[in-house]
Amino acid sequence: MNYLASLRLEQEPFSTNPDPAFFYKSAKHISALNHLEIAVRLKRGLSLVLGDVGTGKTTLCRTLIQAFEGDSDDFIFHIILDPSFKSENLFYAHLTKIFGISPFFRSTIDYRDAIEKYLFKKCVDEKKTVVLVIDEGQKLKKEHLEILRTLLNYETNDQKLLQLIIFAQLELMPKIEPIKNFLDRITLKYMLKPFDEYETGQMIEFRLRKAGYTAPASLFTSDAVKTIYQYTKGYPRQIARVCHNALELLIMNEGRSISGEIINDVIQQDKTWDL
Ligand SMILES: Nc1ncnc2c1ncn2[C@@H]1O[C@H](COP(=O)(O)OP(=O)(O)OP(=O)(O)O)[C@@H](O)[C@H]1O
Ligand SMILES: [Mg+2]
Repeated sequence: MNYLASLRLEQEPFSTNPDPAFFYKSAKHISALNHLEIAVRLKRGLSLVLGDVGTGKTTLCRTLIQAFEGDSDDFIFHIILDPSFKSENLFYAHLTKIFGISPFFRSTIDYRDAIEKYLFKKCVDEKKTVVLVIDEGQKLKKEHLEILRTLLNYETNDQKLLQLIIFAQLELMPKIEPIKNFLDRITLKYMLKPFDEYETGQMIEFRLRKAGYTAPASLFTSDAVKTIYQYTKGYPRQIARVCHNALELLIMNEGRSISGEIINDVIQQDKTWDL
C-alpha cells in the first residue's frame, strides 16, 4: 500500500535526493550557511566544506545556491557536480564552457588568459561576483588543484576575482596538504558532522511535517528516534533510508506510530540486505 496516501502525506518525506526543501537546518547548519554566504559576499576567495559520505554536502551546496537566487543580478554561480576530468585541458575546456567562453584554445596559457579576461569583465567592469562551486571535490586531481590555485591568484588591489567553494569528502585533505599555497588560501574551512540524537529527532520531525504530516503527535516515538540514532550514528542519508523503510513497515502492519521495535525490525532487514 502507498504510505503517502495512508498517512495523508503530500510528498515523500524520506527521499534520499539532495532536495533543499527537506534540508533540516540545525544550529550548526545555519552557522555554516551564514559563514559561507558572508565569505561569498565579502569575496574572501576559497571556502572548503568537508564531510563524510552522506552527511549532506550536496544538499547544503544546493541550499547555499538557493539562498542567492534573489540576487542573481549581482552573483553569477557556476557549478561543477563531478570534477573527474581526465586531463588539465579537459578541465580548462569545461571551465571555459561553463563560463560561456568559447572553449577552443590551444594552450593552457590561452585558456588562462581567456578565463582571466572573463573574470575581469564580470567582476570589475560589471561589478558582479563570480562563484565557482565544486561538489565531489575529493575527485579533483593534483593538476586540477593547481589550476584552481592559479585562478585564485587573479585579484585586483581590493578584491579576489574568483570565489571558489569546494564541497568534498575527507579524502581531499591529503591531496591539498602538500600544496601549501593552496592550503594557505583557504579562508573558511567547515566540517559537516553527523547529527546528535536530538538533531536526529528534529530532522525526522521536520521532514515529516514538510511532507504534509499534520497529526499533533510525533509519528516516531522517542525510543524509535534513539534506536535510529544508535544505528545510523546520525548520518542523514542513513536516517532517511531507515525512516523510509519504517514507514513502509508501519503501513504494512497497519500500525499507528513507529516504535523502537519497528526500527529494530527495519535494522534487522537492513543488515540482511547488506550481506
Ligand atoms: N540537514 C539535513 N536535513 C535533512 N536531510 C538531510 C540533511 N543533510 C542531508 N540530508 C539528507 O541525506 C541524504 C544525503 O545527503 P547528500 O546527498 O547531500 O549527502 P552528501 O554528503 O553529498 O553525500 P556524498 O558524500 O555521498 O556525496 C539526502 O537524502 C539528504 O536529503
Ligand atoms: Mg554529495
